[in-house]
Amino acid sequence: MNSSSPSYVRIFDTSLRDGEQAPGASMTSAEKLEVARALARLGVDVIEAGFPAASPDDLAAVQAIAAEVGQVPVEGRPQAEPPVICGLARCTRSDIEAAWNGVKGAKRPRIHTFLATSDIHLQHKLRMSRAEMTARAVEMVAYAKTFCADIEFSPEDAGRSDPEFLYTVLEAVIKAGATTLNIPDTVGYTMPDEFGALIAGIIGKTPGAKDVVISVHCHDDLGMAVANSLAGLRAGARQAEVTINGIGERAGNASLEEVVMAIRTRGEKLGLTTGIDATQLCRTSKLVSRSTSYPVPPNKSIVGANAFAHESGIHQDGMIKNAQTYEIMRPEDVGATQTMLVLGKHSGRAAFSKRLTELGYPLDGDALLKAFNGFKKLADRKKAVHDADLIALASDERTTVPELWALDNLQVVCGTTGLPTATVRLRDPDGKTHVHAAIGTGPVDATYKAIDAIVKVPVTLLEFGINGVTEGIDALAEATVRVRHEEQRSSHGHGADTDIVVASAKAYIASLNHVLSRQSSGRAQHPQKTGTPTAVAQ
Ligand code: KIV
Ligand code: ZN
Repeated sequence: MNSSSPSYVRIFDTSLRDGEQAPGASMTSAEKLEVARALARLGVDVIEAGFPAASPDDLAAVQAIAAEVGQVPVEGRPQAEPPVICGLARCTRSDIEAAWNGVKGAKRPRIHTFLATSDIHLQHKLRMSRAEMTARAVEMVAYAKTFCADIEFSPEDAGRSDPEFLYTVLEAVIKAGATTLNIPDTVGYTMPDEFGALIAGIIGKTPGAKDVVISVHCHDDLGMAVANSLAGLRAGARQAEVTINGIGERAGNASLEEVVMAIRTRGEKLGLTTGIDATQLCRTSKLVSRSTSYPVPPNKSIVGANAFAHESGIHQDGMIKNAQTYEIMRPEDVGATQTMLVLGKHSGRAAFSKRLTELGYPLDGDALLKAFNGFKKLADRKKAVHDADLIALASDERTTVPELWALDNLQVVCGTTGLPTATVRLRDPDGKTHVHAAIGTGPVDATYKAIDAIVKVPVTLLEFGINGVTEGIDALAEATVRVRHEEQRSSHGHGADTDIVVASAKAYIASLNHVLSRQSSGRAQHPQKTGTPTAVAQ
C-alpha cells in the first residue's frame, strides 16, 4: 500500500524512546541497534531512536541507528526508502541541537520537540503562562527548522488541555514549520469518544491542520491506549505512535501489534491500512522482550504464548472443524507458528547455523561454537528442540553486554533436609578463577550469595523470574533478573539452561556484568523526560 494513499497510517515506533523510559527497560546501544534493525524489517515508517540530550550513550545509539538503519531500505520490503529516524527534544536549544546531532546522519531525519499545554502542567511544572508557552513552542519549532525539514511537535498532556488553546498553539507551530502534529494523551486519561472528538476538533478547527500529518500517542493508564489510538485514526489522524509489546512510561503505550492487527483484521470497518509486515510481529516482540527483560504475558493479544492456544474441549472441537470458529487471525499471519527443528543430536554445525540465520539470530566464530555445544547438550536431554530453544541459546551468545565475569562451575546441595548450599566457581575478566561456597534459604539464594561474595558489587535484587522456553518437563529454562546498584537505572540479565539453578546463576552474573559495564561507560541516571521548569526556561 502506497504511503500517499489517504487510508495509509504511518506507524511511528517509540519502543526505543518512550518504551525505553519504562522502569528497568533500559537497553545498551548495541541492543538498541538490533531492535532498530528489526523495526525496519517490520516495515515501520518512523523509528523514534531515542532522546539524545539524555546522555552521551543515548546520543551515540541514535547516531548509530541513523547511520545504519536510516541509510538503506530493507531488502525485500515494499518501502523504497529507509525509515525516518527521529530524535526527541524538549523545547530548549541544547536539546534540539543534541537531537539534530543524533539524527542528521539518517537519509530522512526528524526532530520531535514537545512542550506541555495543559493548565496543570503549565502552572505546576513549567510555571509558564499560555502566551509564554506558545511563544517558546514557536521559537523552538522555528529553531529546529533551521536544521531539519521534518519537524514534529507534541503538545504534551493534550488529552487534558483546553481544545481551544490547543488549536491556537497548533496553528502557530504549523506556521513556524511543524510538519507533523502529535497529540499525546500523556497520562492515559481520555475515553475513546473524547479522544476521537479531540482529533476531529483539531483537524476541523486548526487552520493549516489539513496540510500536516496528525498523529496519535496514547498511554494505557486506563487500558484505553489502543482504543483511543484507533478512535483518533478514525477521526482522521494518519500516524500512530506505538511500542512493541506496549512497553512505555507507567502502564505503557498503545501496542504496535494490537493497533496494526486491529487495522488489518477490521480493515473494512476502519478503512485504514499500514505498511507493516505482520509476519515479523512475534519475532520483534521476542527481541524487544529479551532486550528489555520485560516478559510478554501469556495472554497478551497477538504475541502472547496463549494468543492462539485453545484449551477447552468445545473450542478444540470447533477448531478442528473450522479454525474460523475461534480464530479471527491465523498464527502464521503474525509469525506465531512454532516450528520444530528437524535437526537432531547428530546434525552438523552448518545446518544449525543456517537455521539460526533463518530465524534472524545469526552467529559466528566462538559464539556459534558455544551455542552449538549448548544445542548438542540440549538435543541429548530433550526429545524435541524447537525454534524457541534455539533462539534462547543464541540470545545468550548474542548478548551485547561484555562477559566480564563468567560461570565456570556450579554445584548445589538442596532438598528437604540440611542447609541449601552452593559452591560457585567464576572466571574474572582476566581469566582467573575464584571459588566460594555459601548457604541460603534455597539453592538459588545460596548461589547468589556465593556470587556476591566473589564479585563484590552490592546490588538489590528487584525481580527474579523463571520460565520454561517451551512446554514439557525437559524444557530449557530461561531466567530473568533485574537488579539495582546504587543510583544507576536498574540493570537486567537473562540466562538459559536445562538446569534452573544454572540458568538463574547465568542471569544474575549477566545482570552484574551489565552493572559493571555501565560503571565503566559512566552512563548516569536517565533524566526526567519532562524537563524541570529551570531546564525548560534556560
Ligand atoms: O506521552 C507523551 O506526552 C510523550 C511526548 C514526549 C510525546 O511521550
Ligand atoms: Zn509518551
